[in-house]
Amino acid sequence: MIERATDTIGRWLAVNILIAVLAAAAANAAFMALAGVWARPNLTAVGVIDQAAGVARVLDGAPDSLRAHLAAAASGPNFTVEWFASDAALPMPTLGATFHNGQDKVRTLLGRPDARVLAFEPGDPGLDGQPITFYALAIRMSDGSWTRFVATERSWGLSAHARLLLTSAFFIVSSLAVAAVAGRRLARPMQRFAAQAELFGRDVHAPAMTAEGPREFRVAASSFNTMQERIQRYVEGRTEILAAISHDLRAPLTRMRLRGEFIEDAEQQRKLFRDVDEMQAMVAEALAFFRDSSEAEGSTRFMLSELVHTVVDDFRDQGYAIADDIPDGVAYFGRPVALSRALANLVGNAVRYGDAVRVYVDVRDERLEVRVDDNGPGIPAEYREAVFRPFFRLERSRNRATGGVGLGLAAARSAARAHGGDVTLGDSPDGGLRAVLVLPLG
Ligand SMILES: Nc1ncnc2c1ncn2[C@@H]1O[C@H](COP(=O)(O)OP(=O)(O)O)[C@@H](O)[C@H]1O
Ligand SMILES: [Mg+2]
Repeated sequence: MIERATDTIGRWLAVNILIAVLAAAAANAAFMALAGVWARPNLTAVGVIDQAAGVARVLDGAPDSLRAHLAAAASGPNFTVEWFASDAALPMPTLGATFHNGQDKVRTLLGRPDARVLAFEPGDPGLDGQPITFYALAIRMSDGSWTRFVATERSWGLSAHARLLLTSAFFIVSSLAVAAVAGRRLARPMQRFAAQAELFGRDVHAPAMTAEGPREFRVAASSFNTMQERIQRYVEGRTEILAAISHDLRAPLTRMRLRGEFIEDAEQQRKLFRDVDEMQAMVAEALAFFRDSSEAEGSTRFMLSELVHTVVDDFRDQGYAIADDIPDGVAYFGRPVALSRALANLVGNAVRYGDAVRVYVDVRDERLEVRVDDNGPGIPAEYREAVFRPFFRLERSRNRATGGVGLGLAAARSAARAHGGDVTLGDSPDGGLRAVLVLPLG
């Protein structure tokens, strides 16, 4: 596997945070550039100029000694007024300054059509050549002194508080957008990983995981695959050993049966034959069980209601009376052969131990239940787990003709659990046993 360092989650998060910060900064800059232009108030329109012209006329007529005081007194919330004695004293460029609209209006308002009026906007070059950040109006008095109006500095027409809120909003929005995309990209391989682990939990033969996503996930996926492979080999190994033992037991059992012919005591011979028969049955069932579980039947979508009907009808054909309540059109994704055998085991038990059997199919909140009720003797609560153990039978002393070798429930549960479900036992309302096959949907 080629490892690209850029693929690690850490790297990836860092890149995304950087993107978020850059996006926020870009949005901020774009807003300043665009909204700054839009929000720049037109000085002629806001009435400041009329006020300024009024103040300038008063200052023009006042003696020098009073002008500075009058200027200070005229300063208000809209602008500050300062008086400068000469061209040299005015802290603004007097030549080459950009002339903006409004001068004529000021001249008219002043009643001096030839008055020198300079208007500055934020961004105009100041005395030092640097752009200024305020609005300024400089009016030359009749005696050559200057009165300057400086409007409060404004940025896009917003207060510092509103600006802070807006900048924060840019950061929040861009962080959220990046986090949503980044989160999705990180979550996807995680979800796939979880789904695969879940699948393996249900089915040992599940296919290996494909390594995708950031490096950490690929490493985890490949470790998972190694583990899955080891478990598969382990399970297969055990199953093979057990199958081999069962298989090899058949020969000595056959020989025992033959030697039994020489036993003279008829009673002893009968007992020996019964034991040998039982062992042979166990071996045969065990072999069938191992064959089923190693046979990798593929999962397909099938009509579970049809499958249950088929199992029930098979027993009816053998003469058993079975009532049913099976809704039509219940579909399921799983291994139909394994489930059909599991169900046949449950119904087989029910008809063996009871004579009135009912089979229900119920779909409710994400799970599917097949209930098999009978009116037989039931199973005492303390044995309801034990009967799932292989070869565990309640009626050991009874005639073997009443049942199998004790693998039926074990096999049924194993098939159900391979689907993520289970088989449980309880009391049937008819007095006997209720066996429930639960399968998760979806
Ligand atoms: N419907 C039932 N009613 C009463 N006992 C039952 C029922 N089903 C199973 N059992 C008990 O559980 C034991 C295990 O059942 P199972 O695993 O199917 O083995 P088998 O049917 O081969 O005996 C049975 O021997 C029997 O004692
Ligand atoms: Mg059985």
